[in-house]
Amino acid sequence: MNPMATEGLEGATVCQRLVELHERVRAEFPEVSRVTAALYDPATEGLATFRHSPSVPVSLVSEGLPLRDLPRLREVVEARAPRLFTGPEGSGASYVVPFFQQAGLRGFLVFDSEEADAFAPVAMRHIRILAELSAESLLRGLERVGMFRSTLHLMTALARFRDAETGNHLCRVSHYARLIARNLRPAARLADDLTDFVFLFTPAHDIAKIAIPDSILCKPGALTPVERSIMEKHVTLGLEIVDKIVTDTSLGDMPHLGMLRNIVLHHHERLRGSGYPHGLSGDAIPFEARIVGVADVFDALRSPRPYKEPWTTERSLEYLHSHRDLDFDADCVDALLAGSRELETIACSFPGDDGT
Ligand SMILES: [Fe+2]
Ligand SMILES: [Fe+2]
Repeated sequence: MNPMATEGLEGATVCQRLVELHERVRAEFPEVSRVTAALYDPATEGLATFRHSPSVPVSLVSEGLPLRDLPRLREVVEARAPRLFTGPEGSGASYVVPFFQQAGLRGFLVFDSEEADAFAPVAMRHIRILAELSAESLLRGLERVGMFRSTLHLMTALARFRDAETGNHLCRVSHYARLIARNLRPAARLADDLTDFVFLFTPAHDIAKIAIPDSILCKPGALTPVERSIMEKHVTLGLEIVDKIVTDTSLGDMPHLGMLRNIVLHHHERLRGSGYPHGLSGDAIPFEARIVGVADVFDALRSPRPYKEPWTTERSLEYLHSHRDLDFDADCVDALLAGSRELETIACSFPGDDGT
């Protein structure tokens, strides 16, 4: 199992497949009340389990559960075949289907019913087929997510190779964006998993700057209108690059893909409609793009640029505060201010060329 299989995209991929599987099983066998996916990590010999029942949304229920402490599952692995377990005195039944990849154990799908006779032979045959198809799709999904994650890392590494400052900017902004997402006031707060996605996707926000000529990207002065329009193309070009990565890794059904596309395309939109590429205003700007917009401007102000000296953290925050609700989302600015003690730590972790 990928060591990150319970986080962000990987966890969402498992949850998505589990809900689909349970819906398909219940369409034929409504007495199956609960489905659990237990992913096996050969490195730790532990299981991460996700569970779905109609009354409780799918969620990660445990992590690192040692397989050696679960004798029934060990029996299933030794037999390398599904097995039915019934509860004491007809109190219910569980049908366990193991799944393997290249002979190695990858996990189990467990189907529970409160009815002891829920799993007749014909039901087990059907459920086994659905489980094996779902396990295959799950493993393929995790592989594709791994490819997508590697491609994003590669693009960030390329940006750093071409220009260390751009690479460090991508890292700093993703940390600032996560800080904002975590510090939002309760009424504006994102679900925990969406905060992870903001952090994962933000390094892609300037991915297309590797395609902007040095004469523009590093120009030690104001850009001409033509140069500015070329620079501004990094958002639409970035969206094309992201869409190409998603197509090449067959991740069109990736959870929260819209967040990634919004961050790349809309992080330069401003509340009053003065931004680009579409001049969106107010709530028409996707919230994740407003988060990244604040993080991005904070880093740009605080960092040296070919055309300006770096501002101090205090001056940068004052600027954002003075444009709060005018250009920048007030909740996002307040959240950045609420986390101001962590800003220096983040900046020091990815220093600019001059050590700022
Ligand atoms: Fe940008
Ligand atoms: Fe940026």
